[in-house]
Amino acid sequence: MNATSDCPYGQCDGTGIIHLVEKKTGILYDAFCQCHKDAMQKNRLKFADIPTEFTGLTVNSFEVNCYENESNTQLARKAKQMTANYIRSFEEFERDGKGIYFYSKTRGSGKTRLAVSLGNVLLNTIGRQVKFITSIDLLQEIKNTYNKDTEYTESQVIESVTDVDVLIIDDIGVENKTPWVNEILFGIFDNRMKHSKITIFTSNCEIENLEHDERLKSRIFKMCIPIKMPEEDVRKAIARKENEELQIRLMEGK
Ligand SMILES: Nc1ncnc2c1ncn2[C@@H]1O[C@H](COP(=O)(O)OP(=O)(O)OP(=O)(O)O)[C@@H](O)[C@H]1O
Ligand SMILES: [Mg+2]
Ligand SMILES: [Zn+2]
Repeated sequence: MNATSDCPYGQCDGTGIIHLVEKKTGILYDAFCQCHKDAMQKNRLKFADIPTEFTGLTVNSFEVNCYENESNTQLARKAKQMTANYIRSFEEFERDGKGIYFYSKTRGSGKTRLAVSLGNVLLNTIGRQVKFITSIDLLQEIKNTYNKDTEYTESQVIESVTDVDVLIIDDIGVENKTPWVNEILFGIFDNRMKHSKITIFTSNCEIENLEHDERLKSRIFKMCIPIKMPEEDVRKAIARKENEELQIRLMEGK
């Protein structure tokens, strides 16, 4: 083995493979170097496309005391606990192809925050391939492939979201419900359901109240455990607090 400066660990010759000898038998064998594992994780992270605001956040750091109303604190605590328990038994849920559907009518209540935190754990700790995308962006990306001269074809984009281990669809229900939209989403979810792939949704709407085709909704029902989120806008409360602190800073001229 020629360890060179191409490997940050000085373990391999830059190929990501180290050649080892088994002590007892003297048999030669190959193993992946840590630099190869790092590169794989970096690719997975890039592919996941988690919004920068949420990268690295965990379920543990999801606050339950930032809601003013006690019933919302209870809902947040329950949602957090259920998500932590889901992670604990993830392999079982994965076998059954059961994801989670986080929903509440109120904007800024923590749906995306908790869904992405779950995705981060599945990506960084459990080592699954994860992809985050809003339903609007997904449909737009597919539409873009209909123009000439695009990098990817329609089937490549669809395949990338159909095949990924864990797909997070943010804000399902806000897109137009045209026959084309129903057809595209049905194709993706039906395929994911057949292969027991995990899909995590966030939505402003209960599954029953989604305005999609019944055959699409029944697949979402089958693929997800619904978790109710608080009905309180913490985004506004957080922004108000930030602005108050900034106002004080401006007044004090610091
Ligand atoms: N429980 C929480 N603990 C810490 N931060 C939170 C919590 N809930 C929400 N936030 C923060 O508040 C902001 C809004 O949360 P988030 O984007 O998850 O809301 P949402 O329910 O997905 O809203 P929308 O319906 O508009 O998509 C984010 O910056 C998020 O990090
Ligand atoms: Mg959201
Ligand atoms: Zn190496």
